[in-house]
Amino acid sequence: MAQGLTIALTKGRILKETLPLLAEAGIEPLEDIASSRKLIFDTSQPDVRLVVLRGSDVPTYVRLGAADVGVSGKDMLLESGGAGLYEPLDLGIARCRLMTAGLVGKPLPLGRVRVATKFVNIARQHFAERGIQADIIKLYGAMELAPLMDLADLIVDIVDTGNTLRANGMEPRELIAHVSSRLVVNKAAMKCKHESVQALVARLRAAVERRAAA
Ligand code: PRP
Repeated sequence: MAQGLTIALTKGRILKETLPLLAEAGIEPLEDIASSRKLIFDTSQPDVRLVVLRGSDVPTYVRLGAADVGVSGKDMLLESGGAGLYEPLDLGIARCRLMTAGLVGKPLPLGRVRVATKFVNIARQHFAERGIQADIIKLYGAMELAPLMDLADLIVDIVDTGNTLRANGMEPRELIAHVSSRLVVNKAAMKCKHESVQALVARLRAAVERRAAA
């Protein structure tokens, strides 16, 4: 294992879609990640190990080289700025949309708009580009509660089925970005572990293309 690779994965919903794709590329954890409290896992490839992180931490681990490669939502990459990372492959999984949303039928205030989100950088840029004065309120979850409790006029959040918005009397407003999970690579690892990284990218690319052709 001259060129061992550490792959950082995002736990939760994305992990459920990542593991089958990794398996199709020949990489399977040696134990069940979902039922384990461990955070580091050996795989069927002796030179590949997996670490399981919060999505917002994956770009950090890969940028700083603690992991060579990562699977990260485009939302997290946009929020973190993506600096120091290569993004060689769209994995086509965990597809959703990053949107603004508000209470059904409720117009925006004439002056400043209060926006609740965990994507503060994305939100700031989105409203600045439109010349809208926005006060960004950082939240860590349950964004949909903010307009209901009159903490905010709008939210910026991930929309998949739209069920969470509907269940809370909200409607999508503006599309900010289409989101899917991306393979990201540390820039130094791309040079120093070129062979291993390229082999991994090629296997995953082939798996993604097989799916697209099916
Ligand atoms: C996300 C997002 C919404 C929901 C949207 O939360 O924040 O609440 O999914 O999905 P839907 O359109 O299918 O209803 P998630 O469940 O991932 O939890 P999080 O708040 O920890 O991000």
